[in-house]
Amino acid sequence: MSGAGAVVSRQLEGRVALVTGAASGIGRGIAEVLHSRGASLVLVDINKQAAESAANEIAGEGSAAIGLFADVTDPSTLASAVDSALERFGEIDICVANAGVIGGPGFTERRDYNDDDWDATHSVNVRGVVNTNDAVRPHMIEKGRGRIINIASHGGRTPRGADGGIGSVQVPYGVSKAGVIQWTMHLALQIAKHGVTVNVVCPGTLWTPMWERIAQMRSLYDSRYEGMEPNDIFDAQIKGSIPLGRPQTPTDIGDAVAFFASDDARVITGQALNVNGGAIMN
Ligand SMILES: NC(=O)c1ccc[n+]([C@@H]2O[C@H](COP(=O)([O-])OP(=O)(O)OC[C@H]3O[C@@H](n4cnc5c(N)ncnc54)[C@H](O)[C@@H]3O)[C@@H](O)[C@H]2O)c1
Repeated sequence: MSGAGAVVSRQLEGRVALVTGAASGIGRGIAEVLHSRGASLVLVDINKQAAESAANEIAGEGSAAIGLFADVTDPSTLASAVDSALERFGEIDICVANAGVIGGPGFTERRDYNDDDWDATHSVNVRGVVNTNDAVRPHMIEKGRGRIINIASHGGRTPRGADGGIGSVQVPYGVSKAGVIQWTMHLALQIAKHGVTVNVVCPGTLWTPMWERIAQMRSLYDSRYEGMEPNDIFDAQIKGSIPLGRPQTPTDIGDAVAFFASDDARVITGQALNVNGGAIMN
């Protein structure tokens, strides 16, 4: 936990946060930060068992965190998760739409994108975020307040990862993340009058299962990385590309999410924030 996080701890006391894709990587880190600041947790993932384990590990059995199944591409499963959350906690104050995929099945073995990459990134990254926001939106409008924070990528603002040797397989991902940013602004406009803010965090580069898949793909298709282990490829990517000199951590992303969820961000809506060590500045 960062020093800054310790200073503002418990500022989300009494709030209930629903986080998708919370069983691993960034989603889990976001959940840990929100919990450390006092929020109760509804951890949603396509991997139900891992979501339940994350809830127990973060908050302890029987306390203020539950793990639930939902596939963000299927609105009916999200509706069930929201119903269960409302039954357990009575309200949802914060919604973090974090679940995402880098590409379709077989992504790591391809240099160039195919239809599966377009379909998977659109259905999970774009429609999944829309579905998640839509699942909580009526409840937040009825309450007259709420905080929605979507997770995109700095790759949704500037093309990344398709330079010559690396291949185009990451293009559908970047396009999908641009869609998340644009959707966030539309929704912010639509529901501002109801007291609900909608913002988007754009992470840079983090070592998670998702980045491991990117490294596997690069080891096959980028001569600069031939024969290297995935984590060495990640280190090579970081070197020299991040002005602040280090990759981000899930806690770094969680701190930004906690800011948008807090009262400090009360007049901020429709904004996209890069959390990327300065790798892209826009
Ligand atoms: N890792 C990075 O460098 C990086 C950079 C920028 C943005 N992001 C974004 O951050 C988010 C989290 O990425 P991560 O690196 O932690 O990935 P990850 O693969 O480690 O975790 C993704 C989680 O989402 C879940 N998930 C996948 N499809 C789902 C679905 N249909 N319904 C519900 N849950 C589903 C997975 O089970 C997993 O727990 C993603 O939106 C990703 O695009 C990651």
